Amino acid sequence: MDKIVILDYGSQYTQLIARRIRELQVYCEIWPYHLAGHDLYDSEIKGIIISGSPYSVTDEKAPRLKEEVLAVEKPILGICYGMQLLVNTLGGKVVRSHSREYGKSLLYALEKKGIFENLGSEMVCWMSHGDSVKELPEGFTCVARTDTCEYAAVRDQKGRIWGIQFHPEVSHTPLGQEILANFVFNICGCAAQWTPDSIIKQQIQWIRSEVESGEAVCALSGGVDSVTAAVLTYRAIGNRLNCIFVNNGLLRKGESEQVLSNMRALLGKERIIYVDARERFLKELRGVLDPEEKRKIIGRVFVEVFEEEAKRLGEVQYLLQGTTYPDVIESVSVWGPSARIKTHHNVGGLPEHMKLTLIEPLKFLFKDEVRKLALELGIPEEIVWRQPFPGPGLAVRIVGEVTEERLEILRDMDAIINQELEKSPIYKKLWQSFGVLVPVRSVGVMGDERTYKYVGVLRAVMSEDGMTADWARISYDTLDLIARRVVNEVAGIGRMVYDITSKPPATIEWE
Ligand code: XMP
Repeated sequence: MDKIVILDYGSQYTQLIARRIRELQVYCEIWPYHLAGHDLYDSEIKGIIISGSPYSVTDEKAPRLKEEVLAVEKPILGICYGMQLLVNTLGGKVVRSHSREYGKSLLYALEKKGIFENLGSEMVCWMSHGDSVKELPEGFTCVARTDTCEYAAVRDQKGRIWGIQFHPEVSHTPLGQEILANFVFNICGCAAQWTPDSIIKQQIQWIRSEVESGEAVCALSGGVDSVTAAVLTYRAIGNRLNCIFVNNGLLRKGESEQVLSNMRALLGKERIIYVDARERFLKELRGVLDPEEKRKIIGRVFVEVFEEEAKRLGEVQYLLQGTTYPDVIESVSVWGPSARIKTHHNVGGLPEHMKLTLIEPLKFLFKDEVRKLALELGIPEEIVWRQPFPGPGLAVRIVGEVTEERLEILRDMDAIINQELEKSPIYKKLWQSFGVLVPVRSVGVMGDERTYKYVGVLRAVMSEDGMTADWARISYDTLDLIARRVVNEVAGIGRMVYDITSKPPATIEWE
């Protein structure tokens, strides 16, 4: 399959560039810049994109271009730092500006070919840079400028090496996708081969070759990643796949029944092993108040239960996991495996002594691609669009000790919250929406009686990836309806509050 490689110099936009290229149905990989080497000669690689960077090429310690990048003589597009790096390496001049250019600018294309083919001569583009190109390398031509940026786009004589100062990958550059398409199709000559159908075929073939014989096991959570990985693998190896679904008692209202019935419909009843471990988890969590302690216990008990069940299956050699591309990129990133807050969330790492070979059929896919694949595989929409749900489940949404009574209250409150939100147009824009139980009693009046009940919290946020989040501007009417219904219908709750803190400084979950 034709492929574009992005050499990552640490820009916050690198993943976005990759997603944009893949939206054009061209496969694209992100490599940390220092891994660029002889592999670039691989004939599948049709072009190279050099990303932006927080560095300045004028810094002594700035990351440089590896020799092979120019030596392979493939089409290159440098974006922002990538362009400055090319100019600098090829003998041009880049200087530090006194001020940063940031925001929308009007770009004048001086040629209507190459990356600007069929695009007209004026367009809006998004700029974010401190340094600027002052002199071009020999043989280079300026192909676009803005009122403040003399060299907004450049190319070499043959039209093989291109550089742009602006960011085509962000939505503030309305024609950005067309510019990328011109590069990928016209300049690199890629074919649009990265479609859900072709990915499915390719992955099924790959799983078959990895798991030639023997049995595989996987843990189902009900989330889109684990379900998609299971369905793909089932298509590849059929009955040699065994799925274990552990009910830890920390799921939302009706969730375990829903996951089970969906999975049985998709894979057949025999493929799913259901383990009711509700009491075991609850017992282990008794008296535990600290959130990290809760996470550790839940992770440990999960592994114990999973291992017991896997043993019952007899000889199993493979473990299926729904790892996706962002996790893979993160583990080999320019900055090294970083201590992103997210990493501690991956509960359920299985012990070494199980000696299982990992199968990760989604490891080259972004979340939106997993969803497209899931739809193509006939996975129901409610799974495909399910909001992210933490591994430790409701345990981190009850502040303090987890008890069955509190779980019951939280489940009821959470169900009402989402029933009402689902009716509102904002629901589709929400990253997560849920209830949190604060087991602190607050005074109220109901009829003539004084009440003394728990506080319920509504948490609803918008986010791209969970790393940052903004609280959702839900309408007053919907908020009003939720508060009334929860306090009237959930016996343990006497007061509802709405959490209006964004992330940072607050996290999305309360614990
Ligand atoms: P925070 O609360 O850190 O959450 O802002 C960011 C995203 O991660 C989810 N989350 C978890 N997921 N195990 C998980 O699998 C966990 O322990 C965990 N804690 C938080 C959270 O729901 C949000 O999507």
